[in-house]
Amino acid sequence: MCGIVGYAGNNEAVPVLLDGLSKLEYRGYDSAGVCISGKDGIVVKKSKGRLSSLAEKIKSEGGTEGKVGIGHTRWATHGAPSDINSHPHRYGKVTVVHNGIIENYAELRSSLTKLGEKFSSETDTEVVAHLINKYYIDDPISAIACACGRIKGSYALGIIFDDIPDKIYATRCDSPLIVGIGDGENYIASDIPAILGRTRNYYLIEEGEIAEISKDGIRVCNFDGIPVTKEVQTAEWDIEAAEKGGYEHFMLKEIHEQPKTIKATVDPRMINSVEGILKDEIIDTSSIKRIKIVACGSAMHAGLLGKNAIERLARIPVDVYIASEFRYCNPIFEEGSIVIIISQSGETADSLSSLRLAKKKGIPTYAIVNVVGSSIAREADHVIYTWAGPEIAVATTKAYTAQVAVLYLLALRLANDKRTINKDEAVSIFNAFSSLPDHIEKTFSYTERMQKLASLNSNINNLFFIGRGQDYSLCHEGSLKLKEISYIHSEAYAAGELKHGTISLITDGVPVIAVITEKDVAEKTISNIKEVKTRGAFVILIADRNCVDEKNVSDICDELILLDSTAPLLMPIICAVLLQLYAYYTAVYRGCDVDKPRNLAKSVTVE
Ligand code: G6P
Repeated sequence: MCGIVGYAGNNEAVPVLLDGLSKLEYRGYDSAGVCISGKDGIVVKKSKGRLSSLAEKIKSEGGTEGKVGIGHTRWATHGAPSDINSHPHRYGKVTVVHNGIIENYAELRSSLTKLGEKFSSETDTEVVAHLINKYYIDDPISAIACACGRIKGSYALGIIFDDIPDKIYATRCDSPLIVGIGDGENYIASDIPAILGRTRNYYLIEEGEIAEISKDGIRVCNFDGIPVTKEVQTAEWDIEAAEKGGYEHFMLKEIHEQPKTIKATVDPRMINSVEGILKDEIIDTSSIKRIKIVACGSAMHAGLLGKNAIERLARIPVDVYIASEFRYCNPIFEEGSIVIIISQSGETADSLSSLRLAKKKGIPTYAIVNVVGSSIAREADHVIYTWAGPEIAVATTKAYTAQVAVLYLLALRLANDKRTINKDEAVSIFNAFSSLPDHIEKTFSYTERMQKLASLNSNINNLFFIGRGQDYSLCHEGSLKLKEISYIHSEAYAAGELKHGTISLITDGVPVIAVITEKDVAEKTISNIKEVKTRGAFVILIADRNCVDEKNVSDICDELILLDSTAPLLMPIICAVLLQLYAYYTAVYRGCDVDKPRNLAKSVTVE
């Protein structure tokens, strides 16, 4: 949530900052602002609304010439989105942009108010400007360190001091921050895409470090001012990966990237044989007796599919937790437990705290993460990267399927090590992975069908997804995708559970999307489809053609999509792509802002 950028160089700062912020808008987009240090001194411009409103404001008002600056795109936590609550916040000689939450801001604010200081916004961030200013005489490092010493919560901060106009300062705690290394120019940013158009080289700023950035150099020290030697990181992502590349939306582009991202994630782990799967990431599986998967949102839904696969193939009990629940539920860790944290960004606050909790209890931790060098990736004992590349659309697509693919690889490896499946079955699943990208590619031939279905149903208010077993797990993601971007209320229901309540909501024309990819339970789900059909539902059935008899099912549904079969385990990944397309086109028909759905942010770095 919230994105920060900073620039010090030989070029005008405003275009660089606006470009960087445009790459971070996925982190929040209810207001934006910049602070420029230049020929008019320190100038702050901020505006409620999208970045385009800020750009308009700067254009119409001018006065922002300068080669040093900081910028912010906001996802409001404290104080409604408004011009006044937008960042940067300025007090005395100090201007700040902030990503995170200052948990003790009320207490700090009241003690500063007692000292006579006046606050102009409702934000938690404003106290940071006050505090740094309070401690600042002529030593910015010690002022920042003293202020941070009083703050509780999470922060990545970009700071400008009035009387040090050629430098920006930055520090962090529990919110991500990188310092980009350019040629005669340097940057700060919340995430790599913001600097990717200008440099690939960066430093990861650790907690307790402060960076001082000017056009000529970067100095990093600890809170005592002692210099810290940093290792240069190099971003592997290419700039095109963070651009729309001709697609109308990032989401559509990212949906279409999935054959490639699945291949990139799976292939390096499939070099020799089943025995070699994930061998670089997981050395010994013999002590793993129980698995707790912890994640948020779609990553948690990937975990549900992981549970289906691991329990079925490897016979290891798996519990899946929502991270915000896990961290406060005093979880019971049985002997032989491991914790797997799944996170695209690697920065989700609740997932990170859950990881820390497990580590504190001495439980081995694994992270399935997309962003290299992110907090979760750095802190987990073992990391398994999804190689999905930068994901910009708020609604995840390619990162989700890559997470599921990794969990499936893990299930196969565990099952093989534990000898819970026979060699032939293991080899057949192993081989099926290699054709997965082709199967995904084939789903794109259903684009027109999905467009048609989306247009038919674009005016509905409710929709149900039903399935059993792995299909039920997939339905959770299908439902989330639809509601988060199209604002249609939908629910995922275990097909057999529908009659215990929710079937009362099925009336004439209510759409039900049913998924069948498991032969064992196909007949059962078909019965449930009949139950909703007789009550007037408009049924769309997506099924593995091996699991159903076309003649028998064509009468019980209004739309039938039969997918070519592969290993049943892998079918949810293929179906997921269809559900993503359905959600995407529904949102487009409803005129929604697909890449930036209202109230959401991609990277939730606050509780
Ligand atoms: C947000 C995003 C979701 C994502 C979830 C977890 O809610 O909108 O798409 O699944 O956070 O994010 P993570 O980065 O931890 O996977």
